[in-house]
Amino acid sequence: MLILGIETSCDETAAAVVKDGREVVSNIIASQTDIHSVYGGVVPEIASRAHTEAICGVVSKALDAAAVTLEDIDCIAITYCPGLIGALLTGLSYAKGLSFASGKPLIPVHHIRGHVAANYLVHAELKPPFVALVVSGGHTSLLKVNNYTDYDSIGQTRDDAAGEAFDKAARMLGLPYPGGAIMDKLASQGDKNAIKFTVSSVDGAEMDFSFSGLKTALINLVHNHKARTGNAELDECFMADIAASYTEALVRTITSRLRILLERDSSLPIVLAGGVAANSHLRRAVGELADSFGVNHYLPPLSLCGDNAAMIAAQGYFEYISGAAAPLALNAFATKSV
Ligand code: KG4
Ligand code: ZN
Repeated sequence: MLILGIETSCDETAAAVVKDGREVVSNIIASQTDIHSVYGGVVPEIASRAHTEAICGVVSKALDAAAVTLEDIDCIAITYCPGLIGALLTGLSYAKGLSFASGKPLIPVHHIRGHVAANYLVHAELKPPFVALVVSGGHTSLLKVNNYTDYDSIGQTRDDAAGEAFDKAARMLGLPYPGGAIMDKLASQGDKNAIKFTVSSVDGAEMDFSFSGLKTALINLVHNHKARTGNAELDECFMADIAASYTEALVRTITSRLRILLERDSSLPIVLAGGVAANSHLRRAVGELADSFGVNHYLPPLSLCGDNAAMIAAQGYFEYISGAAAPLALNAFATKSV
């Protein structure tokens, strides 16, 4: 079965063809990063307009690269939530047009489920049930995946997402947007014990995450340092130490929840997903933690961590075979539980 996936929830216009939810046939991504980087973050209206311009070409390329036509496609999987509402509506409206014109079923896909499904494309043996940790620019969610289309939420962020916390820290250090990957490299050059950042907890909700205190601590540190030294610029060693210490606290905040979970029940494998799953320090920490409890862990390849449509098509396959086709009245949602 061939699924055409379409993804426009944030700043990547993406289309892909996936076979049977497990095999990438084509995967095209048009990134808007250059457009938004001058503003230091994604500008929602600009994102919607850029999707509108790119989407026809991106979908054509995905079909061409797969050497198929719309006739060969079994259904159209579309991200309908969560994300920037204008951006989502652009992709959804396009997918509806395609579905109407071709008569192919329209399959709604939750973006977070899509991130998890990126792992199905590279780990043939991976099957639910498992525990998934989705860490991206917009989400930080700890989930129990009971089966391909049945999820329970275990914990989530109360404020910033993990990727947002990396991007804001990078901005504070004067690094370009998006700063996650740059922070990752810089952290490898610094001393993670140089600065003591606190690992936060949420009162009465031990599995939830909070990153805003960590971000504020970094902002105060940088302001105080600049005021004390009179230098507007931070020296490179100090920046690397900040990146390493900040990353250490952020990674420990994430893995501490996983540790609590594993202490209670270590019968299920751990699956990492989302843009921040590309972080080398987090990948190592999750691997070490899983090994110490003797549980399997699965990481997506770097190429499938960030937003893409192959993951949407992969999840779309499982939604389709569970009977989740939507009417053409389907709406988009900026927020929706998984
Ligand atoms: O999954 P994604 O493409 O978009 C959302 O669904 O939000 O995630 C993008 C986020 C950005 O915040 C970016 O800075 C972060 O993932 N990111 C990283 C790394 N690569 C991307 N964060 C930390 N370390 C990385 N290597
Ligand atoms: Zn995403």
